[in-house]
Amino acid sequence: MNQTNLYERIVKNTETPVFVYWQKRLEINLDKIFQAANRHMKGRVIEVAVPYFTNSNPHLFSIIKQKGCSIVVQTVEEWHQLDAHALTDNLIASPTVLPEQDMMFFMSKNVPINLASIDDVVWQINHFPVHPLFVRFDISVDSAQRMGIKIGEVDKLKQILNRYNTKLKGIHIYVGTFSKLDKIIRLTSTILDLVSREFPDIEVINLGGGFSYNYDKALNQHFDWDTYFEMLAQKIKLHGISPNTKFVIEPGRDVLADVGELILSSHHVFWNSQKTIGQIFTDGSYVYMPSATIRSRQHQLMFLSSQFEELTDRSAMGRINGCTTLSSDFVLPMFVEIPSNITPDCFVVVKDIGAYGATQHMEFLNKKPCPEVLVASNNYPYLITARGREDDKIRYLLTNPIRI
Ligand SMILES: Cc1ncc(COP(=O)(O)O)c(C=O)c1O
Repeated sequence: MNQTNLYERIVKNTETPVFVYWQKRLEINLDKIFQAANRHMKGRVIEVAVPYFTNSNPHLFSIIKQKGCSIVVQTVEEWHQLDAHALTDNLIASPTVLPEQDMMFFMSKNVPINLASIDDVVWQINHFPVHPLFVRFDISVDSAQRMGIKIGEVDKLKQILNRYNTKLKGIHIYVGTFSKLDKIIRLTSTILDLVSREFPDIEVINLGGGFSYNYDKALNQHFDWDTYFEMLAQKIKLHGISPNTKFVIEPGRDVLADVGELILSSHHVFWNSQKTIGQIFTDGSYVYMPSATIRSRQHQLMFLSSQFEELTDRSAMGRINGCTTLSSDFVLPMFVEIPSNITPDCFVVVKDIGAYGATQHMEFLNKKPCPEVLVASNNYPYLITARGREDDKIRYLLTNPIRI
């Protein structure tokens, strides 16, 4: 079955709006990272840990786990959601500064926490002295990240470790969302320099996530993993990092963005008098994918006729409207190119919404959450989340996928 046939089958079964995920794409994205790592980091253990909150659907994380990745959690709720799908055996907690009961919970479940403050380090040493210690450093230029042990606190941290006669097993950093390669290179140097000077015996270096992804391009959207691992291998050599040190990365967007799409139905198109600017009214809303609006982000679109034929013309401009009363309810925050032959009953497919999409559904404006469909590697579509009920606003994850 080709792609448009699949869209037709999914829409006929679930109606719209509906999120669709493609297993093959997810597997290709992970393979690309592993292959680039193998090319440049021979003999070195590289762990890919994908943050659960970037998509939050355990059915996708079950595939991610089967590919050999671990999963990053940041709240106790996430542990429970994953536990309901037997996915808790290889987790890393990369959270903020946590309340004591949450730290207690993760420690009791043997989930290592990248501790985000000196207070948390002291707490863990006192309460779980034999658990390995991991810390998160804020290595931003102005030490302005919301959490993480600051570079100016390294001496204090070392004194505490000495006092308790213990040492760090690993360190974690987060370079910041949408980081371009030049910033990542700079911060990689900073952290490897710090490790070689202050913590040469460290066993794990977790370089976090934040790898850039080009939403506004149709091609070459992905992070350049080859250049990245080539750079990392060079810096590891330069800083004399032990061959036994394991490296972890936590990519979210690059792994999941182009795995997901949101299919909307349009029901009206209003044109200006010259028929150059159209207002397309859909059953979507910005609340289904608020991150595009929050981040002023453009997405690639595909238009399908009511018969699911692709409309390739883009000679007009227009807005994709949501279906609530909010005057700013546009699915995408800017004008987009649209077909001049668009009809009121077409479909709009928003691309690249597998990360920070359905998981960010907002309750504001009372729209019921969308169903989610996974197109498995064998090309069969499976319903993995049912549509939210009319009278409630909860995402209805299915325990067992239903083939549609
Ligand atoms: C600790 C941590 N790891 C990984 C990520 C994923 O980042 P991205 O999706 O930009 O790769 C985030 C995102 O905020 C994060 O906070």
